[in-house]
Amino acid sequence: MLELKNITYTIYENDKKKHILEDVNLSFQDKRTYVITGPNGSGKTTLAKIIMGIVTPTSGRILLNGEDISHLTIDERAKKGLSYAFQIPVTFKGLKVCDLMNIACGEKNNVASLCEYLSMVGMCARDYINRPLDNKLSGGELKRIELAMMMARKGKVNIFDEPEAGIDLWSFENLSKIFSSLKLSTNIIISHQRKIIEVADQVIVLKNGKVEKIGEGKSFINNIEQIKCGKLRGEND
Ligand SMILES: Nc1ncnc2c1ncn2[C@@H]1O[C@H](COP(=O)(O)OP(=O)(O)OP(=O)(O)O)[C@@H](O)[C@H]1O
Ligand SMILES: [Mg+2]
Repeated sequence: MLELKNITYTIYENDKKKHILEDVNLSFQDKRTYVITGPNGSGKTTLAKIIMGIVTPTSGRILLNGEDISHLTIDERAKKGLSYAFQIPVTFKGLKVCDLMNIACGEKNNVASLCEYLSMVGMCARDYINRPLDNKLSGGELKRIELAMMMARKGKVNIFDEPEAGIDLWSFENLSKIFSSLKLSTNIIISHQRKIIEVADQVIVLKNGKVEKIGEGKSFINNIEQIKCGKLRGEND
């Protein structure tokens, strides 16, 4: 179980104090899928980066199976099974797609397993395994490669930051399949998409840096709009 205890992240802008996150308390049980949603700027990505150790909170603790991991580095958290797919994927100069996949799972993949992961995200492995991971790849291609990397990695806690961003409508059924294939892990998915929110065991709504609401089921999802956290995508657009 991953637990966030009283996580606060405060910055100073022109000498004025601003809470990006304020006293966030959340528990993520093993083998369950959570979706974090909420308006732009509500603190979702910051929270993901705090879990991963990319951003250091002003106060609060993070526990993984009861162990305080608050002071561990990104690498140390990764070794404990935390895995993060960025909202905007990073490119790696000098690395090829197959290198990233091999680094992700800590061993050399054969073409067949690379093919399996890449085909799950709608890509033909043979066209991509030797492509450099640079900005010649489109935004959607990078996003898909990152998803394939997450599957190859088989983390214990997988954090996906807007996995649907930049991916065309191919994605939704397949994205649900990807999350189902990771059912042995805890999945924390940041998303604005109704179809993705629907795969969650529990939905967490962040607003102005605070947990606004937590719930599950269709009626809760229908209520999200009523609590003015912004229109969900995937209905009339
Ligand atoms: N280091 C920083 N300095 C100043 N402002 C910051 C910093 N980090 C985050 N913010 C601000 O904190 C707020 C939360 O940002 P964050 O990226 O976590 O939002 P988000 O919920 O992921 O939004 P989106 O849905 O647009 O991805 C934003 O207003 C952002 O501008
Ligand atoms: Mg974000």
